[in-house]
Amino acid sequence: AQPSRLSAAARGSFATALGALVATIGSAVGLGNIWKFPYLVGNNGGAAFIILYLVCTLLVGLPVMIAEIMMGRKARANAIQTMRALSPSARQPWWLIGAAGALAAFLIMAFYTEVAGWVFAYVFKAISGAILSTDPQVTSQAFTDLVTSPFQSLLWQWIVLAVISLIIVNGVSKGIEATTKRLIPLLLVMLIIIAVRSLTLPGASQGLAFLFTPDFSKITGAAVLTAMGLAFFKLSIGMGTMITYGSYWKEDQNIPTGTARVMLADLSVSVLAGLAVFPAVFAFGFEPAAGPSLLFITIPSVFASMPFGGVFMTLFFILTAFAATGAMLSLLEVPIAYMNERFAISRVKATLITTGLLAVVGAPAALSSSTLSGVKLFGMNFFDLYDFASSNLLLPIGGLFIAIFVGWFWGRKNVFEALTNSGVLKNEGVVRAFWVIVRFVTPVLVILVLLNGLGIIGG
Ligand code: PHE
Repeated sequence: AQPSRLSAAARGSFATALGALVATIGSAVGLGNIWKFPYLVGNNGGAAFIILYLVCTLLVGLPVMIAEIMMGRKARANAIQTMRALSPSARQPWWLIGAAGALAAFLIMAFYTEVAGWVFAYVFKAISGAILSTDPQVTSQAFTDLVTSPFQSLLWQWIVLAVISLIIVNGVSKGIEATTKRLIPLLLVMLIIIAVRSLTLPGASQGLAFLFTPDFSKITGAAVLTAMGLAFFKLSIGMGTMITYGSYWKEDQNIPTGTARVMLADLSVSVLAGLAVFPAVFAFGFEPAAGPSLLFITIPSVFASMPFGGVFMTLFFILTAFAATGAMLSLLEVPIAYMNERFAISRVKATLITTGLLAVVGAPAALSSSTLSGVKLFGMNFFDLYDFASSNLLLPIGGLFIAIFVGWFWGRKNVFEALTNSGVLKNEGVVRAFWVIVRFVTPVLVILVLLNGLGIIGG
């Protein structure tokens, strides 16, 4: 109905299958692994929460990721136009999923760029030694000084926006793919070094016990919703990022295997982050359940307690900044690809428009601990509201409709063709399992978890 104004040949794409995989891992791996995962595990009782998260990842996360990548690759378009193009009839408004996704991308970016801004700031504070104190009072004061300063909050958010803009204007392959190919291996090496350091501290075993011994008494409906929200957020699904990235995947790439690799790589980073954080937290007698400030208050004190702590802390915040960068590139790409293809707006202009809008939508999140700290909607400040509304509502609802679309509207033939590369791959068993899960298991689980987590059904 609405043709792209950009010719298909002018579309960007990842140069190689490996590059496509690494860029997609770069989208999944982010603050979710290093900032969210540890504090959510800490707040929700450790191993039992991890098990819930795994179940959600396998039965909801992976199927939705497969669905998104295959739709994008089939339509070779941005998220909104992919939904339009694949819709069986022009009267069915499936493009709304794409539009809701673009909204979610903005909400996520609004608070994500703020947390990324703190991380960027912390790289410098770690180098200067400003946060190298074993006294949580001191590190807490440093964090409070940062977040309660309207000037610093906005400044660091804008620095982050500028950095990712400078990368993304270079395009899908020269910008996103080239950057993630450099950052992801470095990130892994740094994370492994820190995990080994943490695991070899005296008293590390208590942290391991916390991570791997489940206590199901801590699990409530809200905790299950949080685990599912984390699974969506982690895999960058339910909002069009994976549709957009899938549209840059190679035609002969194996989607079930590729997405499973992305999921496993992402999971490994989360587990490594847990191994980097909890053994050290317990070894030095800190509290695991510090909430969102775990990364910014507890962890600096934990590092300060170990020999050469300043070095490890600097590495840790640099790797976190790398992780955040790959994820933000994928968030930005959703609106940029749309504007570029639908309206033939150049990447540079589309980037400027998107970043300009983000500076506006992001300001309330950036100022939510200072100027706007008194403003509460549904009992939450802007920062928490953006986070809750996107992870726990928009992404699961988006994912639900994507699963329903693929399982019930797009057609079995299209799904089997896309996942077997038109019969080239001999993976019928995998595809059949996917077909059952995406039709029945994923939608039912998402609906139950949403209703229960919002307190509409169950106890
Ligand atoms: N997956 C990213 C992370 O865990 C966040 C993200 C969500 C990125 C949605 C893109 C889309 O940090």
